[in-house]
Amino acid sequence: MSELPPPAERTLADVEDGLHMPLEDAILTQRAVRRLLPDPVDDAIVLRCIELALKAPTGSNGQNWEFVVVKDGEAKAGLARRYREAWRIYGGLGRWATRQDPPARRMLDAVQWQVDHLEEIPVLVVACLRGGRLPFVPLPPVGESSYYGSIYPSVQNLLLAARAMGLGAALITLPLWSTTAVRRQLGLPLTVTPCAVVPLGWPRGRYGPTTRKPVGQVVHLDRYGNRPWLGDATASARD
Ligand SMILES: Cc1cc2nc3c(=O)[nH]c(=O)nc-3n(C[C@H](O)[C@H](O)[C@H](O)COP(=O)(O)O)c2cc1C
Repeated sequence: MSELPPPAERTLADVEDGLHMPLEDAILTQRAVRRLLPDPVDDAIVLRCIELALKAPTGSNGQNWEFVVVKDGEAKAGLARRYREAWRIYGGLGRWATRQDPPARRMLDAVQWQVDHLEEIPVLVVACLRGGRLPFVPLPPVGESSYYGSIYPSVQNLLLAARAMGLGAALITLPLWSTTAVRRQLGLPLTVTPCAVVPLGWPRGRYGPTTRKPVGQVVHLDRYGNRPWLGDATASARD
């Protein structure tokens, strides 16, 4: 593979070939990459990631998504403030809960890095949903699931596209804890709900592999509790 230009000079043409990587490699190595360089990311690369995100399904093919690409320092600082507010509580609880779990602690350290540096990350993509839901009216679980289910497949596509083109990315939601504050910050109308943020940048660290449960542990046949593949060596060997 030819040598890539330095991060700040990379164009879409330099990284687009990465999209041809085997699907399994992309899936197996995509992970939350939180420590990112401050170097800019070419707009064309960001748009290509979002373009591929848009190939995902939505309920009734409504395509009721909107993506706000946040590059402005003040807007990023606003989201960073919200992240810090949420993390003060969530991170504190997490540190207590993981005091005897070094791997989980390492993950919290990575989150702490991201919380401390969010403004310096070059691009924050805020994935939103338009309409389809009355504010403050609770839906039955399947309604909530169908509503938010119209954004997360696109976010996963975005994460995979970013990984394939060598970008670091993660799906995060804590900066959105106050929908009102985020709406005000980004000028979102009441009919548009921010759902997830994907910070994008060139990675300081490495991609996967990730640690996940063996498939046999979480798959049930016909009826919950019937797990014939539990302990199946072929089903658990890959992680
Ligand atoms: C709905 C959702 C919300 C998340 N919110 C955050 C967040 O606010 N901050 C964060 O650092 N990671 C967040 N994550 C990322 C998870 O912590 C991460 O996907 C998980 O630890 C697995 O990481 P890995 O792929 O590197 O193994 C979120 C993930 C999901 C699916």
